[in-house]
Amino acid sequence: MPPRWLELTVAIRDEVERSFAAEALVDAGARGVEEIPEGLRTYFPEPPDPEPFVSLLRASLAALRGGEEPAVSWRWQLHEDWETLWRQGLGPRRVGTRIVVQPSWTEYTARAGDVVLTIDPGIAFGTAEHATTRLALELLESRVEPGQTVADVGTGTGILAIAAVRLGARRAVGFDTDPYAWAVTRENASRNGVGHRVDVVEGPMPEGSPEFDGLVANIEWVRLRPLVPTLARRVRVGGWMVLSGVLQEQRDEARHTLGDLALEAVMEVAEEEWWAVALVAAGD
Ligand SMILES: C[S@@+](CC[C@H](N)C(=O)[O-])C[C@H]1O[C@@H](n2cnc3c(N)ncnc32)[C@H](O)[C@@H]1O
Repeated sequence: MPPRWLELTVAIRDEVERSFAAEALVDAGARGVEEIPEGLRTYFPEPPDPEPFVSLLRASLAALRGGEEPAVSWRWQLHEDWETLWRQGLGPRRVGTRIVVQPSWTEYTARAGDVVLTIDPGIAFGTAEHATTRLALELLESRVEPGQTVADVGTGTGILAIAAVRLGARRAVGFDTDPYAWAVTRENASRNGVGHRVDVVEGPMPEGSPEFDGLVANIEWVRLRPLVPTLARRVRVGGWMVLSGVLQEQRDEARHTLGDLALEAVMEVAEEEWWAVALVAAGD
């Protein structure tokens, strides 16, 4: 873990502009982008030289808003303080009908039929605090069938891969390009007693990867769109895909792109400004 973090606050009130800014910050290496009343707050591992780093971020945020620079401020945050603050805000959360996501340091008494996922986010993305994760979990609950193999592209904390196995999949493979995600996913899989059924691939999903019965990906649409043709080829005919990370205003474009790939939408869900879809691979 880095000993200290660069905490960045960006003043943006418009919801859509916020989403684009959050994507740009994640692209630049931000962890845990949080919405606050005045805009966004996020953390970066300590850069070698903070002032030019922040100037560059300011310029890329301005480029998203036709050149208008948002107010950006920064300060150092010690790792210990960051972790304590982050943990205080999280609690057990029910998603869909059966799934309960429980941060590892909280208590939860399960009801009959609950599928409890115990997740420690570390500095990877993926608790049930973000609507895109909740939407993906909700769709997974309706798609996973016993004995299936499932790919989770952009696994983060491993939450969706672990959920797939806990919902009955025989095996799940989590792919991620972020080294922080690899260890966190392995730890979370063991914590949930499914370490032997969740594999981690350290990198993107390769073209030559085997076919899966189902595939889930929660990655912001601008990054996901170019990957979709490759991902779709890794799903067997009749298998399913769950895609999340699409803004409601990108929905029509997403529907169009997916329709061209012989993927038939079978369920759509939305929450806050986000939209997600379950599809079936129809074949040629
Ligand atoms: C929005 S997070 C989703 C995390 C988790 N699956 C969830 O639903 O909460 C997206 C993750 O995708 C990873 N990612 C981005 N582009 C990727 C790619 N081309 N291949 C694999 N992982 C990628 C990021 O590192 C990040 O961990």
